[in-house]
Parts: sequence; structure tokens; C-alpha cells
Amino acid sequence: VVWSESERSIITSIFSSLDYDDIGPKALCRCLIVYPWTQRYFGGYGNLYNATAIKTNPLIAAHGIKVLHGLDRAVKNMDDIKATYAELSVLHSEKLHVDPDNFRLLADCLAIVIAAQMGTAFTSEIQAAFQKFVAVVVSALGRQYH
Ligand code: HEM
Repeated sequence: VVWSESERSIITSIFSSLDYDDIGPKALCRCLIVYPWTQRYFGGYGNLYNATAIKTNPLIAAHGIKVLHGLDRAVKNMDDIKATYAELSVLHSEKLHVDPDNFRLLADCLAIVIAAQMGTAFTSEIQAAFQKFVAVVVSALGRQYH
């Protein structure tokens, strides 16, 4: 994947201004609420009975933060996202058995949450760079399934 200087600076700047503790939980909660079948992987997380339960579940919030920190690694290794996620791809496929379609769903939820937070600052140029970035992440995470 080839990144332009402008794409690199957009991605770095989006993530440097992101409040992980706020955005991570919001993105994961949205995914679990809007695509309820994704809840099946979090059977050990306790109460996920409805939207309120999901949004107030501390284990879900903590995991949302962990996922964003996982994305951070891609931001810091933009030229080698595949290798960066080799291990995480094995974990999600062989151990967790997460259907790889779900990576895109979570990535879309993250885009929506970030867009909502940035408002008009989320220009089409920023959106294009962000979508490209998450597409590469989704492909790298799904690599083990290919
Ligand atoms: C665990 C990242 C998507 C389900 C993890 C971990 C990270 C991570 C960093 C922790 C690994 C460890 O403990 O060593 C990501 C990223 C994603 C993604 C960057 C895509 C943007 C998903 C999706 C699902 C999922 C879509 C399911 C719908 C899980 C589960 C665990 C996990 C069940 C284990 C949780 C636990 O041990 O409590 N993920 N993940 N992940 N992920 Fe993902």
C-alpha cells in the first residue's frame, strides 16, 4: 500500500486528537447494538441484554479502549500493517473464530463515531484517507483467513 504524505498526516492527526477512552467504547458499543450478532463473541462479558446494558458494561468499555490501542499500532507502522497484525489475525481467526466480515462492521462504526465527533472537520478528504486506512487494517486482520 502506498500512502501519500497528506494521507499519512491525516491519519496521524486523527489518532493523535482522539480520546481513546471515549471513542473506543462508543465504537464497540455501536457495533454490538447495530449488528447484534457480533455479541456472540463476548459471551463472557456479562450483561449485554439491551443498548443500555451494553453501554454501561465496564468490560465492553475496557475492550473498546483496547481495540483502539490495537489500531494505534497500525498508525505507527503504516508501511507494514500486514506484519504488524499477523499475530492478531491468527488470534481472531484460530482462537476467537471471529467472522472476518465483522472487522469491516466495527471499522464502519468507528468511522461514524469519529465523524460524529469531528463534525464538519471530517471532510471528504479526511474520510477518504480514514476509509483507506481502515480498509488496510481490515485486510491485514483478515489475512489469516485467506
Ligand atoms: C481481542 C483488536 C475486531 C472480537 C482483541 C485484542 C485486540 C483486538 C488488540 C486483544 C488481544 C490480546 O489480548 O492479545 C481488534 C481490532 C479490530 C478487532 C484492531 C478491528 C478493527 C474485532 C471484532 C470482534 C473482535 C470485529 C468481534 C465481533 C475480539 C474478542 C477478543 C478480541 C472476542 C478477546 C477478548 C477477551 O479476551 O476478552 N482484539 N479487534 N475483535 N477481539 Fe478484536
